[in-house]
Amino acid sequence: MLEFGFYIPTKIHFGQGKVEEIGKITGAYGKRALVVTGKSSAKKFGFLQVIQEKLKKEGIEVLLFQQVEPNPSVDTVSKGAHLFKEEKCDTIIALGGGSCLDAAKVIGILAKNPDPLEHYFGKNKVKEEIPPLIAIPTTSGTGSEVTPYAVITDTEKENHPKKIIADPHIFPREAILDPALTISLTPSLTSDTGIDALSHAVESYLSKKAFPLSETIALEAIRTIGEYLPRTINNLEDMEARSYLMYAATLGGMAIALTGATILHAMGYPLTSNLGFPHGRANGILFPWFWEKSFPGNPEKFSKIIVNLDKRAKEYQIKDTRESALLLKKFLHRSGLPESTDIKIEEKSLVSFTHEILKNKEKMLVSPKQLSFEEILDIYKKALLA
Ligand SMILES: [Fe+2]
Repeated sequence: MLEFGFYIPTKIHFGQGKVEEIGKITGAYGKRALVVTGKSSAKKFGFLQVIQEKLKKEGIEVLLFQQVEPNPSVDTVSKGAHLFKEEKCDTIIALGGGSCLDAAKVIGILAKNPDPLEHYFGKNKVKEEIPPLIAIPTTSGTGSEVTPYAVITDTEKENHPKKIIADPHIFPREAILDPALTISLTPSLTSDTGIDALSHAVESYLSKKAFPLSETIALEAIRTIGEYLPRTINNLEDMEARSYLMYAATLGGMAIALTGATILHAMGYPLTSNLGFPHGRANGILFPWFWEKSFPGNPEKFSKIIVNLDKRAKEYQIKDTRESALLLKKFLHRSGLPESTDIKIEEKSLVSFTHEILKNKEKMLVSPKQLSFEEILDIYKKALLA
């Protein structure tokens, strides 16, 4: 029987030049905005200056928190929350990639909730809604602008595990999606973030929690990424391709907001925490091997994905797992994923990653196929030792 819930409360402003509306949008919420951003890129490309000017023009005071690092730590968000409270801010603006957006959400949690952050790790633990958050992504990947998720690195623990907070109280209130902000992204950032968006859409589509509307959104994201990610990689200044890529990344975010991700995301996290791979690239490296092992769990859905991702797949008439995995692999390389990883890792590390993954019962259960210890280890080995 059909059964589902739908809640994505973020108001979206999409289009080239929309960032100029930041003053008016913020003015509806408050008079003192904490702008959460990374150490240099927003400044380097001048977006930060534009935002500051527009806010000042509306009479909004701007407090800058420019300390967000890739894979933000508990320490960083604690400092941001301290500044928010000390300066009596009323609004948060997140400008940057997924790390900035996630950090801003967690700063919001700490600004409004009294307990230490670890109390809010997990699902539905946040008591008070975060302050109004306006998300301005500068990459097309994470989809964090429309999700109730934040990923934070727990630097207090050994191996620096990723901690996930999932809670409807942390949805951004508004999102400004201005593709012009992505035009200066390097080829590798474009590729890594685009592949992250693709994995969101694919995992949502394959999730046991998927339902007709989430599947429609996920397939539209897959089709759009299929057309526009390689096109953007071929010409980084193609604004039309950049626009559609940003649209697709937000659709991918909506899809995982509705269903969550699967085991592929869980498997990617240790590659980021322990080996330093960017998040999207970690997923991309594992993707074809995850595909090969999981395909028997739902051959129709896997076939539908490949046909939407690569128009030529119809002509090839996909017959088997291996053939479709090869098409995916070729697509990922056309989308900028490096052919090899150049990483030295011992098998015993991969065994310990596998033990950790098996503890993630929730992600295992929603995945298209219940993978065994041997199958998960084999995915890691093929992706990293071959
Ligand atoms: Fe992701």
